[in-house]
Amino acid sequence: MTSQDGGTRVTIIGVGPGDNGFLTLKAKQAVEEADLVAGFATVLNVVRPFVKNAELCPMAYRDQEEVLDYAVGKVKQGKSLVVCAWGDLNVSAKELLDRVRRRVDHVDLIPGISSVQIALVRSGISLEHAVFVTLHVRDGAESALEELVHYIKEGRRNVVLLPRPYDLMPAGIAAGVIEAGISGDRQMTVFQRLTHDDEQSWSGSVSECAAITSDFSDLSIMVFHKPDSD
Ligand SMILES: C[S@@+](CC[C@H](N)C(=O)[O-])C[C@H]1O[C@@H](n2cnc3c(N)ncnc32)[C@H](O)[C@@H]1O
Repeated sequence: MTSQDGGTRVTIIGVGPGDNGFLTLKAKQAVEEADLVAGFATVLNVVRPFVKNAELCPMAYRDQEEVLDYAVGKVKQGKSLVVCAWGDLNVSAKELLDRVRRRVDHVDLIPGISSVQIALVRSGISLEHAVFVTLHVRDGAESALEELVHYIKEGRRNVVLLPRPYDLMPAGIAAGVIEAGISGDRQMTVFQRLTHDDEQSWSGSVSECAAITSDFSDLSIMVFHKPDSD
């Protein structure tokens, strides 16, 4: 779609953490009114029930550039495009936002409910008592791991961490923080598939987590509890 000043315009929405009951009314309306709706296949599944006339443009990591080129090409022909991001837009979703921003003149952002907010709700932690770290980055995971150790050691806040499927997952991260000098007795929780029917949570010590040999879901969030809330 072109804006009043003639520039190209795309709407990006956050679709929430999986259960489409967490899709906002604004995001739902954008999907209902769109000519094209683009996003990773699992993300599109959340909004699929609300698509009215839109052409769906599913993308995968390998073809996301081509799919966005195609969809933005349609925008230049006057169509409206909604790009869908998982959870909230401002939580570890920058790569997708940047890919869209590089292609158009204006983006309209409709935030969503993040999986991080659900993890806070489930663990009864307020945002002001938490610090957030993501390993879900292509570059910079090493410095994020250093920050993680720093905040756990400091012990002033609960640390909410997004692991990185599948090379930096909960058991390996737990083993790594013990190696970096964190006590194995520190208490933590791993949430998997929040808001899905098969949602799970596991709580225990960091050393118990390090010993887990079963696989964790790609939708996993770790919370390292601050010592006095153990
Ligand atoms: C690329 S990040 C995007 C996060 C997203 N923007 C958000 O606000 O939830 C994807 C990571 O978020 C976490 N995640 C997303 N949805 C989740 C869910 N329903 N349950 C647990 N973790 C989830 C996982 O760590 C997953 O690997």
